[in-house]
Amino acid sequence: HDATPYLPGRRAGLPGLRKAAAQCRGCPLYQDATQTVFGEGDTTAQVLLIGEQPGDQEDRQGRPFVGPAGKVLRRALADAGIDPERVYVTNAVKHFKFTLPEGRKRRIRKAPTLRETTACRPWLRAELRVVAPEVVVALGGTAGKALLGSGFRVTERRGALLPWTGLAGSDGDGDGAGGAEQAISGLVATIHPSAVLRADDADRTRVYDGLVEDLRIVTRLLA
Ligand code: URA
Repeated sequence: HDATPYLPGRRAGLPGLRKAAAQCRGCPLYQDATQTVFGEGDTTAQVLLIGEQPGDQEDRQGRPFVGPAGKVLRRALADAGIDPERVYVTNAVKHFKFTLPEGRKRRIRKAPTLRETTACRPWLRAELRVVAPEVVVALGGTAGKALLGSGFRVTERRGALLPWTGLAGSDGDGDGAGGAEQAISGLVATIHPSAVLRADDADRTRVYDGLVEDLRIVTRLLA
């Protein structure tokens, strides 16, 4: 089970993909989430960034990275010399996964399983095909695993230019890692911006600076 049956024809652009993704039932996460949160941004961007999944704000507003993590991300991009208006942002998983602890109002994010990221991967593949970026940035472990497989570890691979070897696994659409993915010249992995928010006060600046430092590789690649 995955998103494949919900994908529109290969000629569909981002508006068509977005519309189709809104109806996706390729995994159970649609049941509790408010809506599908599809990627958005500059559709001709050289840089495509992949987060984990929408957070609480994103789920309510239907747009990626509009909450606190998005604020950190945009600041870090700007500090790294990347115009936040000229990137495309999306998530490995397009529905918010959460738990609602008994008697509480605040929904707590739960990490998606490998099964869920795999089920959602056809959407990511379609976005990569349409946007055809030069550089892909994996923000955190979930995105890295969606791209490179379950053995991926951010701490080991962050901050280096990794070769683009295509999306991990096969989504059964028969085009393998070819097609427009050939436009991609490299992959950079870094921490998720929410790690900056979770860091202790004493550590926050250092964690943030690490994120910016990793993103500078992208700047150098595009220069
Ligand atoms: N965290 C993510 O991974 N993605 C978002 O869109 C927002 C927060």
